[in-house]
Amino acid sequence: MAVKTIEWRDNSVRMIDQRLLPAREVVRTYRDYKGVAEAIRTMVIRGAPAIGVAAAMGVALGIRNTAHAQASARFAMVAKALKATRPTAVNLAWAIDRMGRVLEANLELDAGELFRAMRAEAIAIYEEDLAVNRSLGKFGNELVGDPATILTHCNAGALATAGYGTALGVVRAARDSGKNIQVYADETRPFLQGSRLTAWELRKDRIPVTIIADSMAATVLSQKKIDCVVVGTDRTAANGDVANKIGTYPLAVMARRHGVPFYVAAPLSSIDLNCPNGAAIPIEERAASELTEFGGKRIAPAGVLTYNPAFDVTPAELVTAIITERGIAYPPYTKSLRALKEKS
Ligand code: MRU
Repeated sequence: MAVKTIEWRDNSVRMIDQRLLPAREVVRTYRDYKGVAEAIRTMVIRGAPAIGVAAAMGVALGIRNTAHAQASARFAMVAKALKATRPTAVNLAWAIDRMGRVLEANLELDAGELFRAMRAEAIAIYEEDLAVNRSLGKFGNELVGDPATILTHCNAGALATAGYGTALGVVRAARDSGKNIQVYADETRPFLQGSRLTAWELRKDRIPVTIIADSMAATVLSQKKIDCVVVGTDRTAANGDVANKIGTYPLAVMARRHGVPFYVAAPLSSIDLNCPNGAAIPIEERAASELTEFGGKRIAPAGVLTYNPAFDVTPAELVTAIITERGIAYPPYTKSLRALKEKS
């Protein structure tokens, strides 16, 4: 995709402001970790792998110009601030902890050398994510027919990663292998990642995309318009329970009802073997205004109560397969996910 989601340039982090898409393409520049933390919290950047990359780059900025005697304490403070931004996507903590291991291994370096080591690791996390998505896309393509119509939810594309995407990486790999592919994208209330972001990036890549309201998914499934569902994940537990954008679980129920395969594109960085099942995954709740306002205008009566969980958990039993960069996991996931994580 022509537009970069995130980029390290001249010791600053640049991100396209996803809140403004598709109306405006505005790139924001952050020179300190506090700015990066705020960008993650306020959804300038979003999507599990992308916020992992952003957090790693934020750590590198945060450690810059720190005398090495203070480096560990400084890291602890920066890591805490970045980890507090969003709780559900495990990629965030995964990337920060990986930066922490590089710090610990290089504490004897002077401040300049330590910063360069941290910067190199953050850029490596970015580059590895690109490679992971390409590989995951190739495995996912094995599950996609020709022609195929794929239903997706939220945005698990280039905008949600360092580039290429996970669920949309499968779409791109299938299209690039010559298959005739089209996508149905749920609009994904309330933040509209589907109609704003998925539609935007697929249009840029000239992949045919049809947007539907979330409530229309059962209808298109019952009309046999969909060959498979492919979604991303923010955290997948050891037993294969999948946390992803709110609205994913009902989609899995509907796919099962209509005999349509339900696939999850999950880079290994989003699989958390320390989480035994979905009940242990922390679910973020976001502001009431996402429900009571639309485009800055109030649409619900003042004083109404709201409940706005940003993610739901799809039970493993509804998941046909989990696609990773090292291969495809099938039930029972407790065995297959561990085997893929431990495969080198
Ligand atoms: O709240 P968001 O937009 O960060 O939620 C993103 C999702 O739920 C994605 O599906 C998930 O992070 C996978 S992205 C490859």
